Amino acid sequence: MISTETLRPDAAGISRAAGYLAQGRLVAFPTETVYGLGADARNSLAVAGIFEAKGRPRFNPLIVHVGSADLARRYVTWSDQAEAMARAFWPGPMTLVLPLRADAGLSDLVTAGLPSLAIRVPAHPLAQALLTAFDGPVAAPSANPSGRISPTTAAHVLAGLGGRIAAVLDGGPCTVGLESTILSLTGTPTLLRYGGLAIEAITALLGTPPVQETSPHSITAPGQMVSHYAPDAPVQLNMDTAPEGAVMLGFGAVEGDLNLSPTGSLTEAAANLFPHLHRLDALNAAMIAVAPIPETGLGRAINDRLRRAAAPRP
Ligand code: TXA
Ligand code: MG
Repeated sequence: MISTETLRPDAAGISRAAGYLAQGRLVAFPTETVYGLGADARNSLAVAGIFEAKGRPRFNPLIVHVGSADLARRYVTWSDQAEAMARAFWPGPMTLVLPLRADAGLSDLVTAGLPSLAIRVPAHPLAQALLTAFDGPVAAPSANPSGRISPTTAAHVLAGLGGRIAAVLDGGPCTVGLESTILSLTGTPTLLRYGGLAIEAITALLGTPPVQETSPHSITAPGQMVSHYAPDAPVQLNMDTAPEGAVMLGFGAVEGDLNLSPTGSLTEAAANLFPHLHRLDALNAAMIAVAPIPETGLGRAINDRLRRAAAPRP
C-alpha cells in the first residue's frame, strides 16, 4: 500500500501530477468521459503498473491521450478520413484506431504488440492542462479495478484504486459519463465500442454507417467482454418495478430509488449511469433492477454498458 494523494485542480496540483507521470508513477485524472488511470506511454515499467493496479488482463491494449490532433500524428499514420473525424470530434469523447508509426517510441505494452494504436484528444480542461504540463503521451484506461463500474468522480477512483496509485487529480464529476466511442480507421471504418459520441454523428460525417464490430465475443476491447462494468449486486434489465429486495434504477416516467433522467434525456442519463450504479451498489441490495432505455443515440452506449453489467460473471 502507498498513500494516494488527492490533488486539487490548480497549478500546483497539475504540476505535481505531471511530475509523478514523469517519474513513471500512476496518476488518475478527469476526462469528460470517465477518470483515466494515466502513465507515461513511453515507459514500459510505468505502463505495466497500470495493469498491476487494475488487475487487468495483459492482452488488452490501452488508449493513448495527447493534447491535439497535431501531436497524434507523431504516433499514427494519418489519413484524410482521420483528419475529417479529428476536425469534427476532437477534442472530445472519440478514440481513433490508426496504424502505429514505426518511430512512435511507445511501450509495446500500450499496443499489446498490435500494429495499430488507439489515440484520443480529451476535451476536459484539466486533462488538457495535465497533457501540456507533462508534455508527452499518456496511456490511460478507465481508473477502476478491471471489470468493475467506471469512475466518474475522484471518490470513485479512491474507492477502487486508493493505496495503489500515486495520486488522483480531482476535477469533480465527469460531464459525459461514458467512455469514448472507438472507431477503427485501419481499414473500412469500424465501430469497436459504443460510447460518449453517438454513432449517428459518425454516420452523418462518413456519409455511411461504420461497420459494427462490437460483438461481445470479441476480446479486442475489455469494454467488449461480456461481463464488465459490474456492480456487486446482480443487475436485471428492462424492469418496470423493483422486485422484493431489489433497488430500482429508473428512467423517465419509470420511477426508481434513483432516476437516470426524470425528463427522459439520454445525455443526462449517460452522465448519471455510473454514479447512480455506484450509489445503488453501496446499498447492498439483493438486486439492481433497471428501467428500459431507448436504443437510440447515447441510449445504445448506455444499454451496451447495462447489458455487460447484467451479464453472467466469469
Ligand atoms: O473514455 C475513454 O476512452 C477512457 C478515458 C480514460 O479516456 N479510456 C478507456 O480506456 O475507456 P480503456 O482502456 O478502458 O479502453 C480502451 C479500449 C479497450 O477496449 C481496448 O481494447 C481498445 O480501447 N483498444 C486499444 N487499442 C486498440 C487497438 N489498437 N485496436 C483495437 N482496440 C484497441
Ligand atoms: Mg474501462
